[in-house]
Amino acid sequence: MRSNVLRAVAAAASLMVFSAAQAQNQSVEVMHWWTSGGEGAAVGVLKQDLEKRGVKWVDMAVAGGGGEAASTALRARVVAGDPPTAAQQLGMNVRDWAVEGSLGNLDDVAVKGGWDKVVPPAVQAFGKYKGHWVAAPVNIHRPSWLWMNAKIFKDNGLTPPKTWDEFNATADKLKAKGITPLAFGGQAWQETTVWEDVVLGIGGPDFYKKAIIDADPAALKSPTMIKVFDQMRKLRSYVDRNFAGRDWNLATAMVLKGEAAMQLMGDWAKGEVIAAKQVPGKDILCSVAPGTQGSFLFNTDFFAMFNVSAAKRPAQLLMAQAIMDPSFQVTFNLAKGSIPARNDVSMDKFDDCGKQSMADLKAASAANHVYGSLAHGHAQPAGVQRAYFDVVTKHFNSDQSSQAAVDELVRSVAAAK
Ligand code: BGC
Repeated sequence: MRSNVLRAVAAAASLMVFSAAQAQNQSVEVMHWWTSGGEGAAVGVLKQDLEKRGVKWVDMAVAGGGGEAASTALRARVVAGDPPTAAQQLGMNVRDWAVEGSLGNLDDVAVKGGWDKVVPPAVQAFGKYKGHWVAAPVNIHRPSWLWMNAKIFKDNGLTPPKTWDEFNATADKLKAKGITPLAFGGQAWQETTVWEDVVLGIGGPDFYKKAIIDADPAALKSPTMIKVFDQMRKLRSYVDRNFAGRDWNLATAMVLKGEAAMQLMGDWAKGEVIAAKQVPGKDILCSVAPGTQGSFLFNTDFFAMFNVSAAKRPAQLLMAQAIMDPSFQVTFNLAKGSIPARNDVSMDKFDDCGKQSMADLKAASAANHVYGSLAHGHAQPAGVQRAYFDVVTKHFNSDQSSQAAVDELVRSVAAAK
């Protein structure tokens, strides 16, 4: 009943003529989980942009990398009938909210802004529901990067490893010299971020598609999956003793300070490098995770626009429009570490890692090798994603055999589907 009423209000609101003047002095309440140094800088860009347009910012930050805690807090607000104006959400969650009828229609703004022409199709697939725009994409993140401390690499005569065998050889050399090879945060989403790199790097794009996008039991129980867990066990031997529960940005700080040589993490880590006034590609080297060349895993932060009262609607629509502004997309993504969610902006101001990301995205799109990230909400709905998380984290944090982990993965994923 309540959601019917909300839907009716939203439908009426979407017919309303929207003008920037109506949004003046209105506020938007924005939920997000951007609380690290680099993330905070990026959110500051968004806040200032809106304030310049006369819209007040009411902050609803819920700390926790990957956004699980934020999504729980968001659900409580929506269930109570009091959603924020906009919420940072990953693709699968956007879809879930759209299915529940909780999101407003952004088609008017999207048509005026030509979103259909400039947003890459893989991103559109999550920002639209039944052909209607319901969320504004603010970036394209690549979760599968390897970040390396340039000084440690230079001092030890090392070059960026291109395969998992090369990675192991590099890590063994560092370990023999008493240097922690891998900065690591022991949280399920971080462990799965690394695991999906290994799935793609060892199995290749078709295997990633079968094992993760299709959750195909034959791929899940294959010998390739055994090799994936074998590599995870190797990685366990390259992390320091205090990895359990560590936040991702603290792991990035270890690489920045030279306390560890490498981190496997998405390019939000580059936001930390920039916030620490170091130069990506120079002080901290970047290369794609071993073996993942030619493919592109992605996740996009959308601002899902919830059904709000007609009075709040102009500011909400202005925010959607502002997010897709080409120059905003450049400024925001320069701070965030990601690349713009539109394919028509100049990459001139971006560093080499950003330029590579855009070029790789274009090449992988042409080869049909762009896939959503499982760890970052673009491959499976939350329940199935959780089944993968649980198996990956249990294996990493115990001495479970690869075969036992594979058996459990097959069982858990089937039960969650
Ligand atoms: C989000 C990023 C965020 C990262 C760490 C990812 O899921 O897409 O924007 O920086 O989590 O919190």
